[in-house]
Amino acid sequence: MARKLKLDIPGPDRRITVEEVREKGWEAVFAPDVARPLPLIVEIGFGRGEFLRALAEGAPERAHLGVELSFKRVLKMARRIAKTEEPNLRLFCGTGEQAVRELLDPETVERFWINFPDPWPKKRHHKNRLLQAPLVRQLVHRLVPGGELEIATDHVEYAEAVDEVLRREPLLENALDVPFRRDVPGRMHTAYEAEWRAEGRQLHFWSYRRRVVA
Ligand SMILES: C[S@@+](CC[C@H](N)C(=O)[O-])C[C@H]1O[C@@H](n2cnc3c(N)ncnc32)[C@H](O)[C@@H]1O
Repeated sequence: MARKLKLDIPGPDRRITVEEVREKGWEAVFAPDVARPLPLIVEIGFGRGEFLRALAEGAPERAHLGVELSFKRVLKMARRIAKTEEPNLRLFCGTGEQAVRELLDPETVERFWINFPDPWPKKRHHKNRLLQAPLVRQLVHRLVPGGELEIATDHVEYAEAVDEVLRREPLLENALDVPFRRDVPGRMHTAYEAEWRAEGRQLHFWSYRRRVVA
């Protein structure tokens, strides 16, 4: 028998809505936990949330926003962080596309993390992929000049498409001296990544930044 989903949040509820952000602004959303919340650090598709929590714990003075499509994953994460010390973290249940469109103003994000987005391997499903040129262009506009876009995938064919989209975006520059890395020493492994590594899959990590135009 399926276990019943616990809906109660045993402490502060760190989930935010579009209406709340639009009405109050980021400063009030993060008050009194973070004095100056902007620019934000944003992870899209945080899954089980271990990477996002490590980011927030590692930079307590910075405001972090996690975006995740799955209601269940957001709920579980909200329950988890209600009991622990991550006051600099807020969660949004929705798509990355919606967050970019409705939550994030231009030049308000210091870094986007997109770890192992769903690859949608079948050709007829490619239209569902998160990382396509129009969204990448919108992400770049939300970054402050010099802000960073960090992306990882295990999927070889998606990697080729991602690499092309990143290279073709004129407002981005590669922060590395190679197109992408196969590994990033010292970087925490996400839950999905740990599975792909155990299977011996090839990994791809990009690090791009928004150009600073004089
Ligand atoms: C393959 S999992 C990776 C999870 C996590 N980043 C990791 O590396 O362990 C992809 C995650 O992205 C979420 N997701 C899929 N499409 C999304 C979208 N358009 N916006 C936000 N999250 C999305 C899924 O619900 C899932 O949790």
